[in-house]
Amino acid sequence: MIIAIDGPAAAGKGTLARQIAGHFGYAYLDTGSLYRAVAHAVMRDGKAPSDSGAALAAAEQLDPGAIDQKAIRTAEIGQAASIVAAMQPVRDAILAFQRHFAENPPERAPGAVLDGRDIGTVVCPDADVKLFVTASPEVRAHRRWLELKGSGSSVPEAQILDEVRERDKRDQERATSPLIPAADAHLLDTSDLSIEASFEAALAIIESVQA
Ligand code: DC
Repeated sequence: MIIAIDGPAAAGKGTLARQIAGHFGYAYLDTGSLYRAVAHAVMRDGKAPSDSGAALAAAEQLDPGAIDQKAIRTAEIGQAASIVAAMQPVRDAILAFQRHFAENPPERAPGAVLDGRDIGTVVCPDADVKLFVTASPEVRAHRRWLELKGSGSSVPEAQILDEVRERDKRDQERATSPLIPAADAHLLDTSDLSIEASFEAALAIIESVQA
């Protein structure tokens, strides 16, 4: 069983994907963390994220088991990740790992949940269930702002909204694997939904597909 969850930045995909994976006992892969880790490695070496040679080398050397989850969660790495993610060779270098995870989930889990931008369109076009999770840019920026505030950061909400828009534009307009819903994806707009209501709505979609 493969569940693909795509959508723009800060739409709540990660929270939802984790809940779904926990509910069914499936393995979970946050594919954004792979692009973030590539960007982080490039910047740690003092290179610019637009340096395609450095980005490809980092993607080829990526060890998904050794990602520093704390270091990759900054807004700066998020922006840099969307730059390296627009490079086809970088995407190609981490495609096989993602497919292998989906088809052979760790610890023999009976299924896998992957979230990202192109899971339903490119990585797992035959996924059993595809969800495209969205929310308005304002709602997404507000959620991200609350999250950052909770961890002691004081970035203005307007700045976060600008960053959300900038990242959406880059992810949607890139030539390679742009962020678009798969033709057979179920759309889930969480703008007016709580975390619990989003989870219930996603479960209802998954169960209707399985029935
Ligand atoms: O979901 P996230 O914010 O952690 O993703 C970081 C960046 O990685 C995002 O701006 C686009 C890119 N990404 C991608 O291109 N394809 C994916 N499957 C996942 C993320």
